[in-house]
Amino acid sequence: MAKNRICSLLGIRYPIIQAPMNWVSGAALTAAVSDAGAMGTLGPNAGADKINPDVEATGELMRRQIHKVRSLTDKPFAVNVTVGFGEDMKYSKKIVDVLVDEKVPVAIVSVGRPEVYTETLKKAGIKVLHAISTARHAQKAQEAGVDAVICEGFEAGGHKGFTELTTFALTPMVADAIDIPVITGGGIGDSRGVLAALALGADGIYMGSRFMVTQESESHDNVKQAVVHANDVCTVSVPKRFMLARDLQNAFTGKFKELQESGASSEQLIQYLEEHSPYQAQHLGDAANAEIHCGQAAGLIHDIPPAAKLIESIIADLKKRFAALEEQIRVFG
Ligand SMILES: Cc1cc2nc3c(=O)[nH]c(=O)nc-3n(C[C@H](O)[C@H](O)[C@H](O)COP(=O)(O)O)c2cc1C
Repeated sequence: MAKNRICSLLGIRYPIIQAPMNWVSGAALTAAVSDAGAMGTLGPNAGADKINPDVEATGELMRRQIHKVRSLTDKPFAVNVTVGFGEDMKYSKKIVDVLVDEKVPVAIVSVGRPEVYTETLKKAGIKVLHAISTARHAQKAQEAGVDAVICEGFEAGGHKGFTELTTFALTPMVADAIDIPVITGGGIGDSRGVLAALALGADGIYMGSRFMVTQESESHDNVKQAVVHANDVCTVSVPKRFMLARDLQNAFTGKFKELQESGASSEQLIQYLEEHSPYQAQHLGDAANAEIHCGQAAGLIHDIPPAAKLIESIIADLKKRFAALEEQIRVFG
């Protein structure tokens, strides 16, 4: 029987990857997901209790989180490297040093070019999954030697490029454009999304928002409750200077739009973003007034299960839904 390419590449049972989430995906969530047979990912600021601009401290905190994951599970897991630009790259350089040092199994590289770290990571035996949002970028990532690409559609929570390509349109285009495995995400909240992603040509599934609302996530309970009580039109796309963000609609998204429309300077906008950052929402619990990255799948999230239960129920439901789908197709003759 042909094996799933992502399961073979990463040595995991289910081709489901818990996407990295700043202030949300720490060691407990990462280990719980990996231990359940999928793959967990440590996000930036995992385990932090304050914003710390110190590069060394940021890297050493990540090292401790890696040790913590390893104390909880012996299964493969990933760490996020947000490449960044210019001066900001000092953080990703330090994180890459830690990953190489610690021989972490997998790196999920986002927000930057694939040429920057792929060779260094691969030389250290680390599998590289690179996040992209167009078919052309997928080809560039393949040329740079990454092991698989992650395509992120417009529905996805968090920051991404300015294209508005949805997961439904983007996934088959990326699958056609490259030979290496494709992981897709953005808007996947249950087994129906998983089945659809596989049907669209993906080898693996990438889910952020759904895992944000699990028991092990570091997300503040006020944020989890806000998502559970949200409806189908609860997220908005927020244009920032270099990227788009998808956020849960609240006083933050309203005020930020107002500031932009009234012609606020970029300094004023930056100050507003800093004073109402995801740290305020995810760590301090200000779900009403601070920025909450969240994808369109929010409208599918109605509970706060343990991560392992979520994975088990998706897999069990997937098999039932596939059987029903086969039955439907059979009548076409
Ligand atoms: C709360 C939150 C924080 C995120 N932080 C990061 C991050 O630090 N690095 C990153 O590469 N992507 C980040 N993302 C994007 C996710 O990794 C992923 O692309 C997205 O969640 C997938 O779409 P979904 O939310 O519809 O499942 C974040 C997403 C959310 C919801």
